[in-house]
Amino acid sequence: MSTKLPDKSTQGTEHIKHFGTNAIHAGYEPEQWKSKAIMPPIINSTIFKLDNPEFNEDEYIYTRMKNPTRDSLETCLAMLENANHAYVFSSGMSATSTAVSALVHAGDRVLATNAVYGGTYSYLCQYAKDYKICVEFVDVTNLDTFKAALTPETSLVWLECPTNPMLTIIDIAALARIAKSYPSNPVVVVDNTFMSSYFQQPLCLGADVTMQSLSKYMGGHSDVLMGCLVTNRHDLADKFKSIQMSVGSVSTPFDCYLMIRGLKTLHLRMREHQRNALAVANFLESHKEVDLVLYPGLPSHPQHELAKKQCYGFSGIVTFRLKGTIDTAKIFLKSLKVILSASSLGGCESVACIPSITTHAYFPVDVKLKLGITGNLVRLSIGLEEVSDLIQDLDVALTNAARS
Ligand SMILES: Cc1ncc(COP(=O)(O)O)c(C=O)c1O
Repeated sequence: MSTKLPDKSTQGTEHIKHFGTNAIHAGYEPEQWKSKAIMPPIINSTIFKLDNPEFNEDEYIYTRMKNPTRDSLETCLAMLENANHAYVFSSGMSATSTAVSALVHAGDRVLATNAVYGGTYSYLCQYAKDYKICVEFVDVTNLDTFKAALTPETSLVWLECPTNPMLTIIDIAALARIAKSYPSNPVVVVDNTFMSSYFQQPLCLGADVTMQSLSKYMGGHSDVLMGCLVTNRHDLADKFKSIQMSVGSVSTPFDCYLMIRGLKTLHLRMREHQRNALAVANFLESHKEVDLVLYPGLPSHPQHELAKKQCYGFSGIVTFRLKGTIDTAKIFLKSLKVILSASSLGGCESVACIPSITTHAYFPVDVKLKLGITGNLVRLSIGLEEVSDLIQDLDVALTNAARS
């Protein structure tokens, strides 16, 4: 398959054309530093000399409030989503909890897609219990179900696309349109972690906020934990900034530097992740020990057409169900030699996990089964290795698991 990005007549089209250039340059103009350093300096200083004794918020004062290395990163992240504001936090979950605490108060309702990341699910359930919030998880692939679930108290709509681990593509533009025309005008947040800013631009599709775990594709090297919130809405930006400053779950300047370094190759990495993932998905689809393959780039994927319309590509996650039981899946994982058994995603190295006992371990059993998260379901994050090595590794491990 060609990795050429599909043509779009959305606001994002022009922007995505220049994505790689922005990833390499936006926010890093050498002229902003006295030294004209091309890579932003790691400014570890927590305090800055004040021109006047009183605080001037435009100046650097204290690193929890504002830091030059973090500023460079936030400028770049905003540019990559064609947005005015971006804020980074010490993890994806920290970005999630910031958004939720800024937007949801006692008596409010949260409407979330029924297949969110396990950590988001646990956090929302706990938050609901602690703060008298109602959280409802619904199948948002059905627009009527979504519409019917909105109430005057709904203050937040939390979407994740594609869903985890079933890789269902949800129609962000249609959902945002419905939410925005509802009288309570809930804020629509999209967790864009699986696609990254390169393959999906939620703000261009009508969402108010893009949330990402930058720990995955955006950083891309499995060595930084970070999250972000990106928006064009000044009112939301003020709330996020205020929580970032007061709660203080900010990223270190060194982590910001690593993220900047990772972002510079995001466009190249994503194209290669996708190329390898498509080859793996095609291979698995033809394998006799495999029952089901879910990859949005396959014509057999139930929302393949929607994925082509909404996204600029299909990313690097492949989910499949092997023949057998959870024990077969465990033997399969143990038989892999190149692909590592690990539960994260988005790094250079390919990893595999069994979602029912890792990322989604805390989902109630009946919910897991309803979503199709069975014990023999395996999620692969396809990395940047030579694809022939990955395919051989999968073939040997599948055969080994089937024989045992
Ligand atoms: C889709 C998704 N959202 C959010 C998170 C949370 O991010 P972090 O681990 O950076 O806190 C993850 C982590 O795996 C994730 O996969």
